[in-house]
Amino acid sequence: MTQVLALAGSLRSSSVSRMALEIAIEGAQRAGGTVTAIHLGEPALPLFDAADSATSTAVLRFKTLAQKADALLLATPVYHDSMSGVLKNALDFLYDELEDKVVGLISVGGGRAGQGLALEHLRAVLREMNAMTLNRQVLLSGAADAFDENGVPRDTAMATRLRQLGQEVVLRAKLLRAAGEVDS
Ligand SMILES: Cc1cc2nc3c(=O)[nH]c(=O)nc-3n(C[C@H](O)[C@H](O)[C@H](O)COP(=O)(O)O)c2cc1C
Repeated sequence: MTQVLALAGSLRSSSVSRMALEIAIEGAQRAGGTVTAIHLGEPALPLFDAADSATSTAVLRFKTLAQKADALLLATPVYHDSMSGVLKNALDFLYDELEDKVVGLISVGGGRAGQGLALEHLRAVLREMNAMTLNRQVLLSGAADAFDENGVPRDTAMATRLRQLGQEVVLRAKLLRAAGEVDS
């Protein structure tokens, strides 16, 4: 089984990042992945302080889930052209847990264009952690109008791209595992 950890860098109850992430999760599940989706506010991670890593239950749970995952799906709101502080704070609790793990990225911005920089920043962080970010990514703009009142995405092509991203993290993780099994 391919284990996928999915998280969004927003604590808002009506988070569009989380809605977009749900669609990518569908894609991962269709590809045979077992997805664990976590809400970074429940239980809340503390603000990073190296000492908390040893004591906080929320941190230990998060690190264990990251360690067990074969792949991740990360969705970030665009805040001032970058990732959210909530997501960066969570990533700062990790050290080598994401090494060689496949990661699919989604950004969700309120503007009409120009949200790509947030994912470049996130890619730089993940590169330093030796994670394997996919080239494929999804930039969702115009967040306020992206879903109708029933939570249905208005742009079906966008929804397809989100599902494809979810599928690809699982397929790439399977390929990577198969390659490792051949080597060992
Ligand atoms: C502090 C702040 C900064 C923001 N900066 C940008 C930005 O630079 N570009 C953009 O497209 N949207 C920006 N937005 C809009 C958010 O990306 C948008 O509201 C998004 O839906 C938030 O994600 P969420 O719905 O998952 O909470 C900003 C919002 C806030 C609160």
